[in-house]
Amino acid sequence: KILILDFGSQVTQLIARRVREARVYCEVHPCDVSDDWVRQYAADGQLKGVILSGSHASTTEESTDRAPQAVFELGVPVLGICYGMQTMAQQLGGKVEGGHTREFGYAEVRARGHTALLNGIADFTTPDGHGMLKVWMSHGDKVTALPPGFKLMASTPSCPIAGMADEARHFYAVQFHPEVTHTLQGRAMLERFVLGICDARADWDMRGHVEEAVQAIRAQVGDEEVILGLSGGVDSSVAAALIHRAIGDQLTCVFVDHGLLRQNEGDMVMDMFVGQLHAKVIRVDAAEQFLGHLKGVSEPEQKRKIIGREFVEVFKAEAAKLTASGASKNGAKWLAQGTIYPDVIESGGAKSKKAVTIKSHHNVGGLPEQLGLKLLEPLRDLFKDEVRELGVALGLPHEMVYRHPFPGPGLGVRILGEVKKDYADLLRRADAIFIEELRATRDEATGKTWYELTSQAFAVFLPVKSVGVMGDGRTYDYVVALRAVQTSDFMTADWAELPYALLKKVSSRIINEVRGINRVTYDISSKPPATIEWE
Ligand code: XMP
Repeated sequence: KILILDFGSQVTQLIARRVREARVYCEVHPCDVSDDWVRQYAADGQLKGVILSGSHASTTEESTDRAPQAVFELGVPVLGICYGMQTMAQQLGGKVEGGHTREFGYAEVRARGHTALLNGIADFTTPDGHGMLKVWMSHGDKVTALPPGFKLMASTPSCPIAGMADEARHFYAVQFHPEVTHTLQGRAMLERFVLGICDARADWDMRGHVEEAVQAIRAQVGDEEVILGLSGGVDSSVAAALIHRAIGDQLTCVFVDHGLLRQNEGDMVMDMFVGQLHAKVIRVDAAEQFLGHLKGVSEPEQKRKIIGREFVEVFKAEAAKLTASGASKNGAKWLAQGTIYPDVIESGGAKSKKAVTIKSHHNVGGLPEQLGLKLLEPLRDLFKDEVRELGVALGLPHEMVYRHPFPGPGLGVRILGEVKKDYADLLRRADAIFIEELRATRDEATGKTWYELTSQAFAVFLPVKSVGVMGDGRTYDYVVALRAVQTSDFMTADWAELPYALLKKVSSRIINEVRGINRVTYDISSKPPATIEWE
């Protein structure tokens, strides 16, 4: 296994992810573990190497964090990244100085010294024959004197010591970040380090992770009970399936149906979790309550607030029943959430992980405190695609795990203006037809379905009426807009160039099958300036 010591960088989990991609088992621990802890950790001989992460702080000023000195005495390879390189230099007798200029972003680094880490990998070669690497750097301080035993491994014009190595002891360090994709050869470097230099076994996979995660959950909650808000989305579903695997009936899921879900969604969730996994799920049918509070409200932000507030109210009421002693053996003590690593970063929790301040998921912020519950977040270290892989390893259907994202407020933000039950019913049927056709139609060039080729697709209900003709009669009905986008991060998105034949079929089916809709349009706006959702 590989030990990653976290100095508080935003991207520490990316290092872990790259190590997992090389199929090597790793653990992230805070950098301030003791020397004894480190020796104990390595005592069984399983530890093959250590990686020291970056930090948002600087070695010379703000931070006094150091690696436990024992790390350098274990006889295993050590890789320092950014701050990790600086602290390695300082602890082993080199020198670090505060830079006057901060270097941030793209840089070209010259590999030197023919080291086991960088030798023979290059993005391009200079006219005079030097191998160059395209990397991503972010630092103010830099190493200005090599520690005894080290040689130069990499340099840039502004950072003459951008990498160093003591190959006798297998210590390597780089000032740039190999864990981010902007460092083109970064993945290759980390793979070389863990597989080549550390000689770690490449035998880790998601199935193995299920076992580890199950053990960790059991150790954490013991015989106490857990409640979880199940939304039907990927994250909460995978969290529920994982926790259920670990503790079975100690878990109760609360599924709030706000009446703004997609067609058959509620039944599908119940079939899956109750019918197949035999989990305890309480389905709360709160459609009337939600629609009641939304009556007469047409301003988008206000609608969102109402839906969010009611969601918390309903969930709290159910949770209160379950946490009251007498409801079960002792009442639930834990609230589980499907928080994934990008959520942790988004809510600013990543930096403070070292200080163990746990921020709660933005969707249900503050709930654990209000309910007096402890927080269980078993997906906290995983990236979205890893969560999906985990879902598959847990036996969840591919269709559920690879679903497009669906916003918390649901159809509430896809019915423009006031939300009415009739509108929601029409929209659900139109949306289901669109999704069905996207799943059924393959792109010849790639062999993939258009559902797979789009990142998110849905129908939007426009509460305006237009004139049409059907048979011999005039119609005067509502309009539906189709939206399909392609994006890698949902921050920017392009509208998808769906084939005309597909659009034609969807339009014709919606108009023929959904009485009340006589016109279909396709949204050709990109984000920015438009957003993905219409409200
Ligand atoms: P926009 O419309 O801002 O959407 O371009 C970006 C992504 O976020 C989703 N979205 C939400 N997800 N709660 C959520 O859980 C929300 O309130 C919410 N609003 C938007 C949207 O579906 C898209 O994937």
